[in-house]
Amino acid sequence: MKVLVVGGGGREHALCWKLHHSESVSEVICAPGNPGIAQHARCIAVGAENIEGLMRLARDEQPRLVVIGPEVALVKGLGNQLRAEGFAVFGPDDAAAELEGSKSFSKKLMDEAGVPTAKFETHTDADQAEALIRQWGAPIVVKASGLAAGKGVIVAQTVKEAVHAARDMLSGNAFGDAGSQVVIEEFLEGEEASCLFLVSGDTIIPLASSQDHKALLDGDLGPNTGGMGAYSPAPCVTPAIEQEVLETIARPIIAALKARGAEFIGTLYAGIMLTDDGIKTLEFNVRFGDPECQPLMSRLKSDLGEVLLAAAEKRLDGVELEWDQRKALCVAVVSTGYPANFEKGQVISGLDAVEAAGAMVFHAGTAKKDGAIVNAGGRVLGITILADSVKEAQIAVYKALGKLDWKGGFYRKDIGYRAVQREEA
Ligand code: AMP
Ligand code: GLY
Repeated sequence: MKVLVVGGGGREHALCWKLHHSESVSEVICAPGNPGIAQHARCIAVGAENIEGLMRLARDEQPRLVVIGPEVALVKGLGNQLRAEGFAVFGPDDAAAELEGSKSFSKKLMDEAGVPTAKFETHTDADQAEALIRQWGAPIVVKASGLAAGKGVIVAQTVKEAVHAARDMLSGNAFGDAGSQVVIEEFLEGEEASCLFLVSGDTIIPLASSQDHKALLDGDLGPNTGGMGAYSPAPCVTPAIEQEVLETIARPIIAALKARGAEFIGTLYAGIMLTDDGIKTLEFNVRFGDPECQPLMSRLKSDLGEVLLAAAEKRLDGVELEWDQRKALCVAVVSTGYPANFEKGQVISGLDAVEAAGAMVFHAGTAKKDGAIVNAGGRVLGITILADSVKEAQIAVYKALGKLDWKGGFYRKDIGYRAVQREEA
């Protein structure tokens, strides 16, 4: 079958690579794609936010299946529009995508559904937000309610920092419209993990567990980013925890959406925190995580095309996923200055040598200029490797990264450290 993948980041590179290697798939097309994706798919320059352009593309190309990667296309209703025209689509409708598109909606729905999460209040007025922050004290978490590419969360260590963040968001300075409403949350402590599920109506199948590192700097310090690296499986997610997340988080939230008339087809991503007080939900996303998708696809042995088509056609019940038992680790290479300002157009060399060292190179913010690969975004590459232990994967991935020739690139040196600590214990 012919599959259209929407998006052009590292997640979509991993999806296109896996689909290209699926027996059920004869052709992959990707909009807009990137130079890495172009190795496995025919890339067509239509952006993921251009819903009309994507609809025209689908009508022209008549794919058997459309897989929507980025949240922005889902929140804008690409899923429903395609389904209304009879396409098989992996990715939820806009009503269900609100779970990610609005943190305030998501938190209210969690409360309604009895899904465990941090205590919160939603505010649109800066003075009221400040009063609450002063009342609750620090540390405290301030979140822009709307989409902010993973950067709209400030974990504030002081009241002053939290008040500043809330005022910055509510004035429209920080994240534009996405910050016109803020969610203020109690600070939680614990280890985080990403629990992803394939969902098709009432059928919910857990994917292998994973963990990402959102903070920019080693030791999980510095500002939040879209993700600096990830690995799978996450040893802190035991089978019992996986079951608990399925029963107390995934099922109730999908049922609550359905009760509102929003049926879910796609990937449900529950970001969880294992606290002394039990498992708490940090956030929901309505798509594969980036960079979690890169290690997950590296480990998936099942035919991805078949599985996603079954979900799109509501035949997911009974489907079993097969995983490589090895560990996969992905390190994101970003442009120095990300998540704030950075310079684009720098030549990146050494990618063949990185691959020759046994790593998979997933492209995110890259472009081709005069035959060379250059950086064109914040998160640029996801260097991924499989090994028998996280420690071995970590050593191998950093060895491979030593072959990368890009002075403007930056990456964390400690991706996977928690899992390594567990292995060593
Ligand atoms: P989110 O996009 O809501 O998952 O938040 C991004 C990151 O901020 C999470 O992965 C956590 O590291 C951190 N975070 C979010 N909410 C909280 C919270 N209530 N307590 C502590 N850290 C949080
Ligand atoms: N890795 C975090 C996310 O995809 O939102």
